[in-house]
Amino acid sequence: MNPILVIGGTGTVGRQVLSRLVATGAQVRALARNPGAAHLPPQVELVRGDLTLPETLDGCLDGIDVVFLVWTAPAAAVAPALERIAKHARRVVLLSAPIKTAHPLFQQPNPIRALFEQIERLIETSGLQWTFLRPGMFAANALSWWAPQIRAGDVVRWPYLDAPTAPIDERDIAAVAVRALCEEGHAGAEYVLTGPQSLTQFEQASTIGRVIGRSLRIEEITPDEARRELLRIGPLVAVNMLLQAWAAAIGQPAHVTSTVAEVTGAPPHTFLDWATDNAAEFLA
Ligand SMILES: NC(=O)c1ccc[n+]([C@@H]2O[C@H](COP(=O)([O-])OP(=O)(O)OC[C@H]3O[C@@H](n4cnc5c(N)ncnc54)[C@H](OP(=O)(O)O)[C@@H]3O)[C@@H](O)[C@H]2O)c1
Repeated sequence: MNPILVIGGTGTVGRQVLSRLVATGAQVRALARNPGAAHLPPQVELVRGDLTLPETLDGCLDGIDVVFLVWTAPAAAVAPALERIAKHARRVVLLSAPIKTAHPLFQQPNPIRALFEQIERLIETSGLQWTFLRPGMFAANALSWWAPQIRAGDVVRWPYLDAPTAPIDERDIAAVAVRALCEEGHAGAEYVLTGPQSLTQFEQASTIGRVIGRSLRIEEITPDEARRELLRIGPLVAVNMLLQAWAAAIGQPAHVTSTVAEVTGAPPHTFLDWATDNAAEFLA
């Protein structure tokens, strides 16, 4: 079997996809902008490439049949990169988002949603077989959102504490990705992936406090305060996207699917599982 190419293998989900693929015995290649800093398992063939430099992609895609694609690069690079991928590969599994799910958390207009719509449209007309993974909020967001505050003290300042989400563990996204990469039968599937429970942001932060044995003071801040304070987690466009999504989500439970269990045969991890397994990240 030809190697599977993972693009985004140094990131939160891609790293889990790579380690799971290696465990199945599959041949795996990872594209990295800076291979020297990638720190991937030794079984992974590491190649240098950059989605914004299409001429670097042909070599990475040589002999590749199946691609796992994480896209965080600028929109201008989408069309040339997908053209190269479609020239070489037969199938792509894209890490997308629940942009078609009729829940207010997922229905706010924003540039990231427009980017995914563009990528999906191009993939659908490219001749590639495709599978779209549509995870909701990642449990791992807690690492950039709350870990710095919790490591520094007992106060978590956060907006929209009553907004519920169903955080998904990156290991569960990766488990579905590996099925779609390694098995036939997932072409045309759009898998909306969530964790097993609807939990407010307050409940999620409290869970972390419980796991690390500290009683955290979790304080609501206004959207305007958040817009100023949350720039450390991403650009204003991403912060505004989150604020709009949480505002719209208040007052109803999060959307919860059973797709992880249906595709993998195993129930998804709870947020308590995730927090327990990542507790060290919240300790000073
Ligand atoms: N966070 C959420 O709650 C959530 C929910 C739904 C969907 N999503 C989507 O999930 C994706 C993010 O996944 P993630 O958190 O696993 O990613 P991540 O940790 O941010 O990692 C991004 C990966 O993309 C690579 N990359 C960035 N620019 C590149 C380029 N120009 N060429 C080649 N590789 C490049 C990075 O490699 P380097 O090592 O070179 O930086 C890294 O491996 C985004 O598309 C996001 O919209 C996120």
